[in-house]
Amino acid sequence: MIDLSINFAGIKAPNPFWLASAPPTNSGYQIMKAFEAGWGGAVWKTLGVPVVNVSSRYGSVNYRNTRMMGFNNIELITDRPLADNLREIEEVKKYFPDHAVIASLMVESRKEWEQIIKDVENAGADGIELNFGCPHGMCERGMGSAVGQEPEVLKTIVGWVKEASNIPVITKLSPNISHIIDTGLAAVLGGTDSISLINTIKSIVGIDLDSYAPYPIVDGKGSNGGYCGPAVKPIAMHMLKDLAQHPEISKVPISGIGGIETWRDVVEFILLGATSVQVCTAVMHYGFGIVREMEAGLRQFMEEKNYTTIYDFAGKALPNVTEWKHLNLKHKVVAEINSDTCIGCDLCYISCDDGAHQAISLPTDPTNRIPTIIEENCVGCNLCSLVCPVENCITMVKKDDGTEHITWNERSLNDDVPTTFDDDRAGGKGHFVPKPTDALKNNN
Ligand SMILES: Cc1cc2nc3c(=O)[nH]c(=O)nc-3n(C[C@H](O)[C@H](O)[C@H](O)COP(=O)(O)O)c2cc1C
Ligand code: SF4
Ligand code: SF4
Repeated sequence: MIDLSINFAGIKAPNPFWLASAPPTNSGYQIMKAFEAGWGGAVWKTLGVPVVNVSSRYGSVNYRNTRMMGFNNIELITDRPLADNLREIEEVKKYFPDHAVIASLMVESRKEWEQIIKDVENAGADGIELNFGCPHGMCERGMGSAVGQEPEVLKTIVGWVKEASNIPVITKLSPNISHIIDTGLAAVLGGTDSISLINTIKSIVGIDLDSYAPYPIVDGKGSNGGYCGPAVKPIAMHMLKDLAQHPEISKVPISGIGGIETWRDVVEFILLGATSVQVCTAVMHYGFGIVREMEAGLRQFMEEKNYTTIYDFAGKALPNVTEWKHLNLKHKVVAEINSDTCIGCDLCYISCDDGAHQAISLPTDPTNRIPTIIEENCVGCNLCSLVCPVENCITMVKKDDGTEHITWNERSLNDDVPTTFDDDRAGGKGHFVPKPTDALKNNN
């Protein structure tokens, strides 16, 4: 019997699907609607000091047929009165006592932190999330990512919050930093009960070619926005992995955020160590109903793998994410084309010849358009299989027999690494490369 319920640093929820602090959690109406649809928790749109928002606020990267592949915003924290939000938190908890309602907070002075923590505790919030991530507007006032980029300041504020609060604290980290470990560790040393990441990434999504202003345009001008949506998922997963592999940071649970849209995204974040996930852009795009596909898919995955709770597989991918120097240099794959499914578009030939290693040839017979892999030239880079428009038409086939295993690290320790470009131990030595003038052949 599958049990999706979680206990995240003391915050209980019927499932790991939470709404991230953002427009979908701006009101009790939206959160009640989301809980009815199946979401297990919600992080309320950040509460804090009074603000004024601008119009417009959102920009998008539409890639080919996909709208909002990347999404950016210059919105601030909530502009609704604090008293209204507190009253609605209380009301939501009355209707949904077993769901997680977390108050996202962002204020400046210690006194303000203490007051607002008391307010949300009195309203019945199950936890507090500290917004140290907002990369626009609020950071110019010394809050948001201005804190999330300064480990010492972050640690101090987490300490204040922990002293003042009686409910679990989640520290939400900014990705706008070189080493996420620095702020992750500062949060843990400050006493946080858990971490969430990522908030949005500083970005400009485009420039209008008439007004020369960046999107979203506010009366002829723009500002850097916070980037999110499917485009940021790889960055979020990398940062999650860094935190989840760290011996000290991994002692606290991590809520994964960034580009999550499908059940598969959820499973991937859990495999990298998250034990709750938060979603914003996908809900802004498709609505609360996406949680149904997420839940059905997660359940089916767990059923197939024989898992009862998400803790059975949380972090299972972590041992397989290693440093480059520990990869097996003896592993060898080459591309193989399935001539039955190939449609003869020749895209693989073009990308390998122009963008990779000249390891694909075209047939000389004009009635045949199926390319051939020149196995001895193929370095197994994957490019052709990635560009091929036919699913599984090009597969990467293992050529080593699996008996040999040597890593760069081991070779370094054995003093067995190339020291000059002519060294026979150098990787590219002996690889086929056409003569420069071969490029001109077709013009002759
Ligand atoms: C329009 C908009 C407003 C947001 N406002 C907040 C906010 O008030 N507080 C906060 O912590 N994060 C805020 N976020 C960031 C999201 O909570 C989330 O961290 C980010 O969007 C990445 O998740 P996603 O890729 O699922 O959108 C906002 C995001 C968007 C798009
Ligand atoms: S795997 Fe790389 S080198 Fe090999 S054929 Fe494909 S594109 Fe060329
Ligand atoms: S890209 Fe795929 S479909 Fe197109 S020619 Fe190459 S193998 Fe065939």
